[in-house]
Amino acid sequence: MAGGSESFDLPVGVDVSRPHIARMYDYLLGGKDHFAIDRETMEAGLRSWPGARVYARENRKFLARTVEYLARDAGIRQFLDIGTGLPSANNVHEVAQRIAPDSRVVYVDNDPLVLAHARALLTSGPAGRTAFIHEDLRDPEKILGNPVVRATLDFSQPVALMLVAILHFIPDDDDPAGIVATLMSALPPGSYLVSSHVTAELDPDGIHGMERAYRNGGLWAGARTAADFGRLIFTGLELADPGVVLITDWRATAGEPRPLPSEVSCNGAVARKPSSGQAAGRITAESSKVMTPLHSNSQPCSGW
Ligand SMILES: C[S@@+](CC[C@H](N)C(=O)[O-])C[C@H]1O[C@@H](n2cnc3c(N)ncnc32)[C@H](O)[C@@H]1O
Repeated sequence: MAGGSESFDLPVGVDVSRPHIARMYDYLLGGKDHFAIDRETMEAGLRSWPGARVYARENRKFLARTVEYLARDAGIRQFLDIGTGLPSANNVHEVAQRIAPDSRVVYVDNDPLVLAHARALLTSGPAGRTAFIHEDLRDPEKILGNPVVRATLDFSQPVALMLVAILHFIPDDDDPAGIVATLMSALPPGSYLVSSHVTAELDPDGIHGMERAYRNGGLWAGARTAADFGRLIFTGLELADPGVVLITDWRATAGEPRPLPSEVSCNGAVARKPSSGQAAGRITAESSKVMTPLHSNSQPCSGW
């Protein structure tokens, strides 16, 4: 859609007068599925945080490494990926099915363009299964009750809940911790949570400028510190090593060049639901490994 193809037949519900999160991210990644308004909004943000392209690329690599870890080391065969984004390289089922061809993945996104592309492109290998539903993270019960989700995933077996680069679009007023707790409470012990989240700790001016670009486009976006992200999202879960860290530090591939931390500006972690129960939601922070020191330069901040 870049380069002047804006006039083709648009899928129902696609609004090209306002920027959309999925299309802006696609622009960052060098994809083709974005419109002038998405590019203009993201360019305004890039003037403050030029590293955002690095962040997006590294976030995709983080996502692939976490799925590899889950499929190969943790034996996970089921994935619920909420905030899928427009199909890109190394989508969850592609990474998982390379290791375990019988892996099943349900993709969830609230963007109508993602819906249109995902149905066509996120197709499973013969031994596994993929499905896509158009739902909103802010209504977790609806996601859990969706018949496609229930038909594709077996909730008596462990599931990996993927919330990668989505929670920084959920303000505190929408209760992100409650949303995560509701979703995790439906999954059996041995299930996993993967998440990444932009932080303003390493480049406050740059990240706050990006936040303003989103908000000027009518979209809420807000960074959280590593400590707040860890407490909000992973409390009560067992963090896999190395804990909540910059995404480029999470089980990095040996020998790969590391970008500047301020360009990356995004933390991530993988955690397991313990077998000792506490299935129904939030648990005290003290029980979580997340309370260990995260960044030596951590400081309170808000906004993305
Ligand atoms: C930055 S992209 C991340 C894509 C992918 N998870 C990744 O990390 O590469 C965020 C995605 O979340 C979706 N999203 C944002 N808010 C959402 C919500 N409340 N419910 C469902 N999807 C949402 C957007 O449409 C977009 O596709």
